[in-house]
Amino acid sequence: MLKGILKYAHYLLEETVEKGETVIDATCGNGHDTVFLSRLVGEDGHVLAIDIQEQAIQSTKDKLVENRLKNVSLIHDSHAYIGDYLQPEEEARLGGAIFNLGYLPRSDKKIITESDSTITAVSSILYHLKQHKLVVIVVYHGHEGGEAEKKALLKYVTTLDQKKFNVLKYGFINQRNEPPFILAVQKK
Ligand SMILES: C[S@@+](CC[C@H](N)C(=O)[O-])C[C@H]1O[C@@H](n2cnc3c(N)ncnc32)[C@H](O)[C@@H]1O
Repeated sequence: MLKGILKYAHYLLEETVEKGETVIDATCGNGHDTVFLSRLVGEDGHVLAIDIQEQAIQSTKDKLVENRLKNVSLIHDSHAYIGDYLQPEEEARLGGAIFNLGYLPRSDKKIITESDSTITAVSSILYHLKQHKLVVIVVYHGHEGGEAEKKALLKYVTTLDQKKFNVLKYGFINQRNEPPFILAVQKK
């Protein structure tokens, strides 16, 4: 069977991230991707998990304690400033990143990812990414404000220089109700 959106997002990272690397969960929310990334890089790796909401940071912290995972730095800030949190030895050494756009499930639907900060974050991560590594973006766009972010992001990734990046779009085009899709950007 074709992989569903979340499975495919994880599959892409499983194919490219190596043990011991530093990776980023740019929208940690309830921490599902953080736990996944933490296991993927292993004890010698490092995950930077960032979210703008205190509630998300607490929820991710609880998941990490529950799963006894210790290789994660939690950051309560906008991902637009992610570059400020990279240690000098981690700059230009990133093994991958994931974004899940939209709002935190079972929370305030008005707090959403927005095009300007999302694009600033993606562009900063692309700058620090190692060759052949990926930024995987799961684009939820059915909520209020989601369409504008989707359009801006598509415009941004479509114009990335093809000599420097491969850009993939993956999604199911016969599904109803504005299904999410993946954008994956690979540094050549
Ligand atoms: C769809 S949820 C993420 C779900 C998460 N990946 C999980 O596994 O539960 C989107 C998250 O992005 C966060 N967010 C919104 N704007 C942000 C920003 N500028 N910087 C970082 N996080 C942001 C929201 O607070 C929310 O938790």
